[in-house]
Amino acid sequence: MANPYDALAEVYDAAMAHVDYDRWARYVHQCLQVHGDEVISVLELGGGTGSLARRLQPLGNYEYVLTDGAAAMVEQARAKLDAANMPATCATAGFTTVTLAGLERREPFDAVVLVYDGLNYLTETEEVRACLERVKGLLREGGIAVIDHATPANSEDHEREFFDRGTVHGMTYSRHSEYDADTGLHRTTFDVVKQGRHFHEEHVQRTYAPHTIADLISGSDLKVEAAYDAFSFDSAHDRSHRVHWVLRKGT
Ligand SMILES: C[S@@+](CC[C@H](N)C(=O)[O-])C[C@H]1O[C@@H](n2cnc3c(N)ncnc32)[C@H](O)[C@@H]1O
Repeated sequence: MANPYDALAEVYDAAMAHVDYDRWARYVHQCLQVHGDEVISVLELGGGTGSLARRLQPLGNYEYVLTDGAAAMVEQARAKLDAANMPATCATAGFTTVTLAGLERREPFDAVVLVYDGLNYLTETEEVRACLERVKGLLREGGIAVIDHATPANSEDHEREFFDRGTVHGMTYSRHSEYDADTGLHRTTFDVVKQGRHFHEEHVQRTYAPHTIADLISGSDLKVEAAYDAFSFDSAHDRSHRVHWVLRKGT
């Protein structure tokens, strides 16, 4: 079995063709403009193949650093951002271990962004706590973070079982996803066939209720600026499918 995203990286953009990254980038940019004071440097965690970065960086002419835990995803991101002539740096780093020193950087960031379910890959609350601690260490005083997660309501209101397949650049992929409401775990298997070789990946994510994440944030030194329902500027609620948290370091 391959590690998550090792084989998927090359077909990830095709599998995510349904995602409206333009809208997502505009939304995150608005959050940064509304809540941030002078956001120049942005660190994206779990930035994947750079689909958000490619759109978000030019909106604010941000000084942009993209990280992801999967080296194969970072490789795709680097190629994509280089091809677009985009001034962004890419590095491999985990949510619970990333540090300024590891990124060979002295200056903390004005903003940290972690969106599209990256947090859901942390299946233990202790890991979410560790991630929030890392985010705090990466931000300057007064800096802000935009972090999202999918909720149990999202999985309950959609098909509990999901299957699709596609072909891109001569490679085929198929995806099968199942949700267990008792454990809150989403298990997705990807089967990728490239050049006659078959790769099998299993991805496990946990859905988090807004109040669970609120409790974890309250135990960190990050202050909640806003908890938004999905892509709106309305407050999140118990049936929100996705919550975008805007957090501030310091007062
Ligand atoms: C659903 S993808 C989203 C990627 C990207 N944000 C996007 O919008 O396309 C989740 C990403 O989180 C990354 N990831 C998962 N667990 C991680 C961890 N513990 N540390 C760093 N990255 C992680 C994966 O490698 C993957 O690229």
